[in-house]
Amino acid sequence: MATDLDENTITAEAFCRLENTPDPRLHEIMKALTKHLHELARELKLTEDEWMKGIQFLTAAGHMSTGSRQELILLSDTLGLSQLVVAQSHSRPKEVSEQTVLGPFHVEGAPQLPSHGAEIARGSVGDPLLVSARVVDADGKPVADAVVDVWHAGADGFYDVQDPAWKLDESRLRGVFHTDEDGRFSYWTILPLYYPIPTDGPVGEMIRATKRHPYRPAHIHYRITHAGFDPLVTHIFVDGDEYLDSDCVFGVRSSCIGHYPKHEAGTAAPDGSKQPKAFYTNDSTFVLEREHAANAAE
Ligand code: BEZ
Ligand code: FE
Repeated sequence: MATDLDENTITAEAFCRLENTPDPRLHEIMKALTKHLHELARELKLTEDEWMKGIQFLTAAGHMSTGSRQELILLSDTLGLSQLVVAQSHSRPKEVSEQTVLGPFHVEGAPQLPSHGAEIARGSVGDPLLVSARVVDADGKPVADAVVDVWHAGADGFYDVQDPAWKLDESRLRGVFHTDEDGRFSYWTILPLYYPIPTDGPVGEMIRATKRHPYRPAHIHYRITHAGFDPLVTHIFVDGDEYLDSDCVFGVRSSCIGHYPKHEAGTAAPDGSKQPKAFYTNDSTFVLEREHAANAAE
C-alpha cells in the first residue's frame, strides 16, 4: 500500500489492489479497464468538471433504463462498441450469414405463428410486404424446424414495445416462426422505413452535441436458432435506403442488404394471392454456421 500517489504512480497502485481477484478473466478485465481509464484521463488532462459531467451522464442513463428501455445498451450501440463485440465474436466464414447487433427492441415470448400465411402487421399501416425466406446450412441443405424470431419497426418509425400501452399478447410487427421441412418460412407484413433511435435521453443529448443524425436504415431483425448451429442474429436491410452507409449504430453489412422489389396492384403474389394494392416482396436466404465450426474458430 502506498501514500502520496500522483497522476502517474496511482495506476500501478490501483493494479495492486486488484491482485487478489480470484477469477482470472475478471482480473484481466478490471486491470485493462483501470489502465485505459487512467490513460484517458491523463491524455485528456480531464478536469474535475468534465469528470462530474461524465458521472452525471452515466447516472442519467441508468435512471432512464427500465426492463424495456436500455439506455446503456443504446450508448454502447451508438459508440460502436456493440458492433465491435459482435464482429470479433463470430468467425464469419464468407458462406454463412453475417451477424449484426441485436438492438433493444427484441422481446422473448412473441406470438408463435405458422411457417406460412401469417400477417404480422396486425393493423400497422404501410405498404404490404411478403417475405419468403429459407434457412440452410453452409452446404446449402435446408434446416427444418429452426426457430425464427422476427421483429421490425412500423412505418411511423416505432416498435410496438415503444407504446406505453403495449402488451405481449397484442404484439404486432413481430412473431416466432418454425421453418418447414424445406427450411422455408414466409409471412406478410408492411415495408419498414428508416427510423431514429430513441433520442429523449442522455444518448440523444450526446447525438445532438456531436451533430450526428440518429437514424437507422430500414431493416427487419431476425434471430434464428437451431440445436447444433451458432445462433444467428442479423437484419435484412432495405436496398436503396438513404442511411445504409451512415447507420447510427454501425450495424450495416453489405451482405445483409436485401432486395425488396415493388409489384403493381392486381398482380398475383408468389403465395398465389391476388393483391388489390401495390405490394413488395423480399426473398432471403439465411445460412447458419455449425456450432463446432463456430467454436473451433474462437
Ligand atoms: C434496432 O435496430 O432496433 C436498434 C439497434 C440499436 C440501437 C437502437 C435500435
Ligand atoms: Fe431495428
